[in-house]
Amino acid sequence: DEDPRINGIRTNIRVVPDFPKPGIMFQDITTLLLEPKVFKDAIDMFVERYKGKNITVVAGIEARGFIFGPPIALAIGAKFVPLRKPKKLPGGVMSEAYILEYGRDCLEMHVGAVEANERALVVDDLVATGGTLCAAINLLERAGAEVVECACVIEIPELKGRERLKGKPLYTLVEYR
Ligand code: PRP
Repeated sequence: DEDPRINGIRTNIRVVPDFPKPGIMFQDITTLLLEPKVFKDAIDMFVERYKGKNITVVAGIEARGFIFGPPIALAIGAKFVPLRKPKKLPGGVMSEAYILEYGRDCLEMHVGAVEANERALVVDDLVATGGTLCAAINLLERAGAEVVECACVIEIPELKGRERLKGKPLYTLVEYR
């Protein structure tokens, strides 16, 4: 039986065809953010899943992991660590490159933000190919943390991102087919 909150979350994500380029069906979560009750439902579903699991760090992926990650971190009593695109963080960084559909990109994390043996949750809005989450997992593991799970609002099952997460569990609220 589906959680009754899921339908509101699904129907408040706007799908924009051919953005940012032809053939891409862009999953726009900004429409969900305009409905405080629905936004809260999404955050609450993650918090209910992760509270009491001894997660010490929520790592949010730029850009939309910075929207969903912090309220989850505050509610479960974990710190929040931003994983940023290159050259945005001012301190010493660890970098992890990953392959995109066209070209490559990189995620960076501040050295010292995460300590060995911390328990980490990775948060983003969407998993497509899984390349971005895989880079996030690698950064956290290089810092000595244990990645407990990855959490996203939206999954595109056709792209099989779930299979690229080094065996780490993935929890998503809605699937786009
Ligand atoms: C989107 C999304 C994820 C990533 C998922 O970010 O928010 O971070 O793509 O794709 P993957 O599973 O194939 O790696 P986007 O590339 O739009 O960057 P932005 O958040 O900086 O806009």
